[in-house]
Parts: sequence; C-alpha cells; structure tokens
Amino acid sequence: MSDALNYLVKTRPEAMQAYFKFLKETGKSLDPKIRMLITVITKVATQTEKGFRQYLPRALDAGATPGEIMDAILHAFPALGLAKIVWAIDILLDMDIPEFRAENLGAEKRWHALGPAERIAKGQVTYCDSDGRSLFVYRDAAGIRVYDSRCPHQVTNIPHLALQGFRLTCPKHRWEFDARTGECIAKGDRPLKRFEDKLENGTLYARW
Ligand code: FES
Repeated sequence: MSDALNYLVKTRPEAMQAYFKFLKETGKSLDPKIRMLITVITKVATQTEKGFRQYLPRALDAGATPGEIMDAILHAFPALGLAKIVWAIDILLDMDIPEFRAENLGAEKRWHALGPAERIAKGQVTYCDSDGRSLFVYRDAAGIRVYDSRCPHQVTNIPHLALQGFRLTCPKHRWEFDARTGECIAKGDRPLKRFEDKLENGTLYARW
C-alpha cells in the first residue's frame, strides 16, 4: 500500500474500511485474472506508476499472459487515449520484464538450459543466467528449486550481491526472501516466482 493510503487508513479508518469493503464486494464475482486486468487498466488511467509496476506481476501471477495484458490496455484505448498508453509502454520497457520483450511476446513456454547440474552445489544457492533471465537455484537432498531473480513486488532484477547466506534482499524496497524456499520473510507478502525444472542428460533446465 502507498504511504498516502497508509496515512488515510490511520487518520480516516472508518471511511477507508468502507472503501476497501466496497472494492472487495464489487470484485467478488470476477475471477482473479479479470480483476487484475481491470486494476492494471485503472493504474494506467490514473497514471499511478508505483501501482502499475506492482500490478503487472500480479496480473501475470493471476494467470494473465503478457499478450492479454497488452490487449487489455490497448482495448481500453477509448478511455485511456494514446498518451496514457505510451506512458504505460515506456514504463513497461523500463521494467524490461523478459515475458514482455518483443521476441517473447506470444511465445509458448519452453525449456531453457541452465548448465550442467554438477555445477549446482548441494546446500548452496547458485546464481545463473539463461536466455536473458537471471535465476537463483537452490539444491539440497530433496531436489532442486529454481527461482526468478525478479522481485514479486515491482519486478526489480535482484542482483547476486543481494544474497547473504540464504537471505536475499531486494535493493529497491527491502523485501527479504529465503532463497531456499522462495518465501518472503520480511517486509513483503509474496514469494519469489518458482519455475518448473528438470534434469536431462546431466543438464538442468527450467521452463518459462
Ligand atoms: S521491487 Fe519493491 S521490494 Fe523489490
């Protein structure tokens, strides 16, 4: 929540409770994906940059594809107009979310090689790059887990240097994650995105 909303919750709790109840009630017959698409459009309409950055990954998590998000924004053209759409696309380009890159838009999910599995030491977090995406990989006796380096809050690309032991701290707003489980352990409320993985002929692959 923004500082402004936090302030209003503190100073006008009854009015704000009613407002949040209204939003909850009016969205309850919508599935989460549709709700998130509408929210993304409202962030563009009001040109709320923080909210737009925050709700793009939430729309993806809710099952919207990048193509659907683009179409939803473009479909709202009569209400948004070209200037606001260009404003949103400029931010989207600045975020550089791999799924939205022109070459990836509309592409099916596929397997990407991360390298020889023997290079992924047990009991450690390994940082690696594959096809334009950075990842944190944890391996233990139970298996391997591959996490996106993009923060679930506003898609900041969390650098390798942000890892201390198993604690990963996003440099932008200091959400903290356990790199073994992907769980958010401080400040935020959503885990790192985990990708499906497989081992084939000694090579580790992840799918996105
Ligand atoms: S982008 Fe806000 S904590 Fe990572």
